[in-house]
Amino acid sequence: MIQIAGAVVFAVVITLITVSAADIFYGKPEQTGRGYTVDVAGTPAATTTTEGSMGEHSHDMGKPVDITPYLAKADLKLGAQIIKRCQACHNFEKDKPNSVGPNQYGLVGRKVASVAGFDYSDGMKKKGGAWTFQAISDFLTAPASVVPGTKMGFPGLTRPEDRAAVIMYINQTFSDKPLPVK
Ligand code: HEC
Repeated sequence: MIQIAGAVVFAVVITLITVSAADIFYGKPEQTGRGYTVDVAGTPAATTTTEGSMGEHSHDMGKPVDITPYLAKADLKLGAQIIKRCQACHNFEKDKPNSVGPNQYGLVGRKVASVAGFDYSDGMKKKGGAWTFQAISDFLTAPASVVPGTKMGFPGLTRPEDRAAVIMYINQTFSDKPLPVK
């Protein structure tokens, strides 16, 4: 009887350990998944259409993929369209004031949360690092999952083609010194 009780306790302990280990190891992907769900709910029509036309890339939808190959074939005309969504909250021209979000002139390569006079969220202040092509792409995939507590009320761009297009357009158009794609 004591042996059975011991076995039960042992099983419970192992289960608890396994569950918390899974939380630790898989916490991030789960969060990304949540961001993706929000975006789909926000733009059902657009998501359905693009998924249909870009079927060969559907496995990359909403995931933080390596953006480099997409940058190499970025569609700047598409970027000029997508940036209009960003311009609802961001000025991109040099010396224009901050708006709902910080001014984005020279964004690519800039230090995170470094625009003077903009009151960033605590999550953004803590992020650290620089806005590399990859970092911007990851953030735009699911902003609220990548930077918890971000003030950027934008659901994200699920298609890597869209992210590459807008990031390249910003790099080529709104910068003193566009960065080369590695
Ligand atoms: C609804 C308003 C809104 C829209 C739309 C929006 N942003 Fe933002 N964005 C913000 C705000 C507010 C912040 C500040 C976030 C914080 O402090 O957490 C921000 C921050 C950022 C940052 C970090 C800037 C820094 O200086 O560290 C990047 C990069 C960014 N946005 C890119 C974009 C791009 C690209 C788009 C379009 C695809 C876009 N945003 C659309 C409001 C918006």
